[in-house]
Amino acid sequence: MLIFTEIKSLQQEIKSLKNGTTIGFVPTMGALHEGHLSLVEKSKKENDIVIVSIFVNPTQFDNADDLINYPKTIEKDLSLLESFNCDIAFTPTPEEIYADEIQSQSFDFDGLEFQMEGKFRAGHFNGVGTIVERLFKVVKPHKAYFGEKDFQQIQIIRKMVEKKKLPVQIISCPIHREKDGLAMSSRNIRLTKEQRAAAPFIYETLKEAKIKFGTNNASEVLNWVENEFKNHPLFTLEYFEIADEDTLLPVETKSPSKKYRAFIAVFAGKVRLIDNISL
Ligand code: PAJ
Repeated sequence: MLIFTEIKSLQQEIKSLKNGTTIGFVPTMGALHEGHLSLVEKSKKENDIVIVSIFVNPTQFDNADDLINYPKTIEKDLSLLESFNCDIAFTPTPEEIYADEIQSQSFDFDGLEFQMEGKFRAGHFNGVGTIVERLFKVVKPHKAYFGEKDFQQIQIIRKMVEKKKLPVQIISCPIHREKDGLAMSSRNIRLTKEQRAAAPFIYETLKEAKIKFGTNNASEVLNWVENEFKNHPLFTLEYFEIADEDTLLPVETKSPSKKYRAFIAVFAGKVRLIDNISL
């Protein structure tokens, strides 16, 4: 596996590839787990070479503590990527990406950015758009792989690609879970033993909400979820929402022609966990 920290040398390598070589790209912030690796595997199957970026993007963090405490395990990440036959790892510094101005550009995602995560993480999606567009321009992938764990992020990236006519196909990949149902996340290692043991409660709640949405309307399901979390000793509900998969707008009246998904964000102490389920 080749490892590049500089854009210039990465691009030289990409230029030297045989004409017609297809590039699959998996952008990450590191602290890799099986969820990330499932994206690498899919990308490996569908392309001639796979490039994985590891970059903890400062502009997408709305909370300075979260950025400082974001797990960084670069040596372990690189050996995992090597064992998954990744061809190229790109691990730039913030200066390499942003030069001397660590700042987001401003995007218009047709309102997708104002829902859910956008309400609680100011500027987050401008940061995501900025880094993903930058990485797409550097790597020039044919296909790029994103996890449904961050479903809103996928929809936002699809919107950016469509609006800016970027020549890349966005591939979405299912959520990878621990055996007990907890969605894999780089942040899970920050949970205490007690929080980790209780964390499957989040997915259990989503599964139960899915059943309830069969016979109840969205506000009844929301009331039920809020109640479940009301007196929870370890978790605080930030939001629960049932939304249209395409517009991400909260459902009002159910329509059989639309696809819905339930989204949840929960705090376990200072650790913020998100999850979602197709309904
Ligand atoms: P990160 O949180 O490292 O995630 C990288 C990719 O892995 C994202 O597409 C995410 O949705 C996917 N992923 C994470 N956990 C997953 C799981 N349990 N199952 C399946 N896929 C999972 O998302 C980001 O980084 C950043 O916002 C990034 C796109 C790299 C831009 O900085």
